[in-house]
Amino acid sequence: MTSTDPARPLTTVLTSADAVPVMAGATDPAAPHGYPDELKATLIRADALHEKITLLAQAVAADHTFDSPPLLVCVLKGAVMFLTDFARALPIPAELEFMAVSSYGSATSSSGVVRILKDLDRDITGRRVVIVEDIIDSGLTLSWLGKNLASRGPAAIDVVALLRKPDAVKVDIDVRYIGFDIPNEFVVGYGLDYAERYRDLPFVGLLAERMYA
Ligand code: IMP
Ligand code: MG
Repeated sequence: MTSTDPARPLTTVLTSADAVPVMAGATDPAAPHGYPDELKATLIRADALHEKITLLAQAVAADHTFDSPPLLVCVLKGAVMFLTDFARALPIPAELEFMAVSSYGSATSSSGVVRILKDLDRDITGRRVVIVEDIIDSGLTLSWLGKNLASRGPAAIDVVALLRKPDAVKVDIDVRYIGFDIPNEFVVGYGLDYAERYRDLPFVGLLAERMYA
């Protein structure tokens, strides 16, 4: 059963019961992906992602009151699929910027210690920045990034996140636009990786436990 949080009508709340198991040895005929037996379930199908991204893009555009186009800041690599679909769904002009950060920590959790691997190519003074994030887990990466960008004098910073996990309630920056609240499970696909694999999947799935045990 999917539901919507009345306080956040844009956000679909998903539980573990929404995960559709992948049959052993089967390949989803709608999305052949070449990872047989590595995924245990599909959590968000490609069509549901695109439907949601259209709504997020319309909401961000409706709230844009600035003279200049919003500057979309994509956090590489995880948000790349989301950024490209989001930018194309946005009914107003936007400019794209890319940033790469690495957060130290284990493969499946982050520590909040962040290093910039690739910085923005330009000045963001006076601009409305929209950080386009794949997933907020602990929120540590986003919290650090929000402070870092805020110190550069933008007119506004908003965050649009496709996915959010339950621990993200601790994050101290306001994330106005969230696509899906998901259960506390490790997800892959649509940009999200485990050891650099699965980013190329067109949907969001759950990795079989034996792949990271
Ligand atoms: P945070 O700092 O804990 O919020 O984690 C942020 C980053 O960790 C995300 O941008 C992802 O790159 C990664 N991450 C967190 N949870 C997952 C997951 O379930 N699958 C894949 N990557 C994840
Ligand atoms: Mg990421």
